[in-house]
Amino acid sequence: MKLANSRLPLTAILSALPEEQHGLLEQLKGAQKQTVAGRDFWLGQLHGQPVALGLSRIGKVSATLTAAVLIGHFAASRIVFTGVAGGLAQGVKVGDVVVAEDFIQHDLDASPLFPRYEVPLYGRSRFPCDLALTALLTLAAHRVLTTSTQTASPILAGAQVHRGLIASGDRFVSSATESSALQSALQGAGHTPLAVEMEGAAVAQVCADYGVAFAAMRTISDRADDTAHIDFPTFVTDVASLYAQRIMDELLRSLPVPT
Ligand code: ADE
Repeated sequence: MKLANSRLPLTAILSALPEEQHGLLEQLKGAQKQTVAGRDFWLGQLHGQPVALGLSRIGKVSATLTAAVLIGHFAASRIVFTGVAGGLAQGVKVGDVVVAEDFIQHDLDASPLFPRYEVPLYGRSRFPCDLALTALLTLAAHRVLTTSTQTASPILAGAQVHRGLIASGDRFVSSATESSALQSALQGAGHTPLAVEMEGAAVAQVCADYGVAFAAMRTISDRADDTAHIDFPTFVTDVASLYAQRIMDELLRSLPVPT
């Protein structure tokens, strides 16, 4: 189902939680709600672009279904994920943004039938994001992080943009021990993730299956360590939605408009 009266491709913006989405929803023009598969989707325009806002909820199964509805039911031409993640790599700190180049499932292990982390029958462990959309998203994140000098800005001082691999799994990583075990196992297989979350790899796989462009950014809400469960809710409520809103604003302004 395409948006009525729209010549432009539909951009879907996916977040995990309502707290990450509400800034975008407040700005949505001509908002119309549709419920599919028990999920609420908001259709409307942001900066003249037709958009569908969706909530993946938490975890890979929920995210897979939301992504499939956005593509199969709403005919989304591209999906952008905006949410939060735990920082893994050194120097990836709370308030930074990680733009994904590709995704891996850190909890996928069908060995000895297939190598650990490999998605069975795909012959690969990592699913890449769309190069062009990721380049625009990186630019948008840089613009927002480097131009936010006002004191009232939600952007944390010294916040940086990183690009690289993100690991997804059905686990909230909340201890330093778990975080280093996860990193060493991945590194042993040649993968060095910058951050960990619970949905991206699933959406990347769905988008690859459908041939739909995918890009993702995650604001670092915690360091996936022993204080992650304290840092995460505070950050999501106070900061994440504003990051999402500002960076999506920049991105939507920069999207190509067909002539
Ligand atoms: N999303 C944000 N922080 C996370 C963490 N520590 N583990 C998994 N997903 C997260």
